[in-house]
Amino acid sequence: MEYDFDKVIDRTGTNCSKWDLRKEVFGRDDVLPMWVADTDFEAPKEVIEAMEERLKHGIYGYTYRPKSFNKSIINWMKKRHGWDIEDEWITFSPGVVPALSVAINTFTHPGDRVIIQTPIYPPFQSIVKENGRIIVDNELMLIDGRYQMDIEKLEEQIKISDSSFTSNTINENREFDQRIKLLLFCSPHNPTGRVWTKEELLKIGEICLENDILIVSDEIHSDIIYKGYKHIPIASLSKDLEQNTITCIAPSKTFSLAGLSSSAVIIPNKKIRDLFNNTLNKLAIGGGNIFGNIALEAAYSYGEDWLEELLIYLEENLNYLMKYFEEKIPEIKPIKPEATYLVWLDCKELGLEGKELVDFFVNEAKVGVNPGFTFGENGSSFVRLNIGCPRSILEEGLNRIEKAVKRLNK
Ligand SMILES: Cc1ncc(COP(=O)(O)O)c(C=O)c1O
Repeated sequence: MEYDFDKVIDRTGTNCSKWDLRKEVFGRDDVLPMWVADTDFEAPKEVIEAMEERLKHGIYGYTYRPKSFNKSIINWMKKRHGWDIEDEWITFSPGVVPALSVAINTFTHPGDRVIIQTPIYPPFQSIVKENGRIIVDNELMLIDGRYQMDIEKLEEQIKISDSSFTSNTINENREFDQRIKLLLFCSPHNPTGRVWTKEELLKIGEICLENDILIVSDEIHSDIIYKGYKHIPIASLSKDLEQNTITCIAPSKTFSLAGLSSSAVIIPNKKIRDLFNNTLNKLAIGGGNIFGNIALEAAYSYGEDWLEELLIYLEENLNYLMKYFEEKIPEIKPIKPEATYLVWLDCKELGLEGKELVDFFVNEAKVGVNPGFTFGENGSSFVRLNIGCPRSILEEGLNRIEKAVKRLNK
């Protein structure tokens, strides 16, 4: 291994959310932070060097994204995900969540319905609600320890919404129907770690096409895929899906760049892309920043070897965790992720849920986790644990959980 993922780097005192906000978030600063989805690994040296080189210049005026920026995205998508994309399809957003919000604001109206699939990364819920749109929750089903989509229910939900034309209380002045307009899709899925199969993607894609539902596919986690699984961009499956999908990607989760606010949005359909770009322009948020631009391009251009090693390291972390729970904390059942460094822990057997469960992790185990209930009501007996950290931190976290569970059982 060329890269040292075992290296523990002190992140405190860097205005880092994960470590420096512990007191605010958990009410105490002695928790081991295994929550927010970034890693404790140093970015690839090529990325750091590219930024250092630019930093030395000393003038940081207005900037633009050169052709090579898009080229790095085109090459990455082809090499890693087998999807041929074109230069003009690529647009920019200062983050994937902002891109989701731009899409919602552009392609739906207040009062319109948007499908999400809970348990889900909390901003999927909040950006729908905060923009005055209505959530249609196509809950995932947990079957034999693996989450599945409920396609039958989805078809039913679409049928119901198609046939109901109740009055619009949110936007009185507008001709209103209750048809579902948009699917906010998470692929791979956070927090369940599912890598959707080709069959699953084709099925949901077909339903969206048949019902004129725009797919907004958040593929931010698509580079962290474990052995035996393959991420397929839903848009890559057919020309029709390509024309009906907005795909959001970013190097942020993968390459420790989340603080640089840079992501790419791939929109093959010109009409959809123009409308999306209009909103970006209206809000004046499409500019980007020097270091985000440089880091994205360097990561996609030179980060592949680093990523291959990271994947091996994360897989070992995951195997370590799975074995640890099985042998030492059998009361907690991790849902084995197929992608992402986030592990969804099923804690039903502890007999705690909601705030009580979080309180147990924070105040008894002293491990900072994401509360399961924030991912949806069906997450209340779960928590999400981030294993994107050196093994020693993971060991310490598991150790703390083990001791707390033993005390709870006494
Ligand atoms: C599914 C998903 N989308 C988006 C984000 C955040 O993206 P950004 O920081 O680019 O807005 C996260 C972060 O955890 C995520 O898990």
